[in-house]
Amino acid sequence: EVPSLYKEYEDYFLMGAAVNPLTIKSQKELIIKHFNSLTAENEMKFESLQPEEGTFTFDQADQLLSFANDYGKKVRGHTLVWHNQTPDWVFTNKNGNSVDRYTLLERMKTHISTVMERYKGQIYSWDVVNEAVSDSGANLLRDSKWKDIVGEDFIDKAFEYAHLADPNASLFYNDYNESNPEKREKIYSLTKGLVERGVPIHGIGLQAHWNLYSPTLDHIRTAIERYASLGLQIHITEMDVSVFGSDDKRTDVKVPTEEMVAKQTDRYNSFFELLREYSDVITSVTFWGAADDYTWLDNFPVRGRKNWPLLFNEHHQPKGSFWKVINR
Ligand code: G3I
Repeated sequence: EVPSLYKEYEDYFLMGAAVNPLTIKSQKELIIKHFNSLTAENEMKFESLQPEEGTFTFDQADQLLSFANDYGKKVRGHTLVWHNQTPDWVFTNKNGNSVDRYTLLERMKTHISTVMERYKGQIYSWDVVNEAVSDSGANLLRDSKWKDIVGEDFIDKAFEYAHLADPNASLFYNDYNESNPEKREKIYSLTKGLVERGVPIHGIGLQAHWNLYSPTLDHIRTAIERYASLGLQIHITEMDVSVFGSDDKRTDVKVPTEEMVAKQTDRYNSFFELLREYSDVITSVTFWGAADDYTWLDNFPVRGRKNWPLLFNEHHQPKGSFWKVINR
């Protein structure tokens, strides 16, 4: 008998998975058994919820919420303000020119309040702002239309609007490469500024798109400690462990080698050893998918190349990694 992942982790943190309209069907039994928190992979993003100004399309998000309700699962909201998957109309007026700061802030506020009020009480945490920090270089924030048009305080505003819309939701800043020392310090300084200005932020999401070689355990540990030192909660929001290194662009690997599998098992084992150490500050761990038959990494960074980054294989059976994560 295969134990339930989330039940095994009840003393530590929630165990979540990103799902979509296809996987809540094709992976239904697996999802119900092993995860107690769900994130919409795409269905709660701006382009999904408000493809045209004033036209909100909640069907798919509603279906996920009702699936979650039927099976007693919690839901994380992903994501309100991001530079990707946000329609062009948001930043443009009828003449095709850029809108001004005031108009964009109004649109941001309308979007956030409409979405969050609809799901009030049903979503325990929101990724309010996603991936705003730059990966390298001197700038703290990446270039984006949000930043260009509103200015750097678009982040403060997003959190303020979110808190007004649902004062009980916990509000997160979410990013990737979160354990890289250079980016970590930028995320730290951004969120420290928010805390010091009294902006309602409650947590930092570490996406945790990790692989066989990076980041190092030390870098992850330092990131967790640094973020936690701000008095914020931590969520692991999009975990997967690619069987390819960051620069590996091979296209001819049709099955993972024994070496890849062994290394991945070892990595999962040490990652969870580490995460369990910090279960006082880490309250939720979400995988970006449930089983290897469906993962966004099948198209990234090499389109059409299969990856095997999760705890369950393509037939929804537990992998060696699963047993290491369970056997604490
Ligand atoms: O829905 C269209 C479909 O109509 C069209 O025919 C098809 C052709 O490519 O594309 C479909 O859209 C795809 C969409 O996923 C829905 O499946 C997009 O091409 C594809 O780019 C998009 O990818 C998503 C990606 O975010 C885009 O930013 C992934 O599924 C999703 O897993 C990924 O998730 C992000 C997190 O939100 C933030 N952190 C990184 C993470 C991984 O990139």
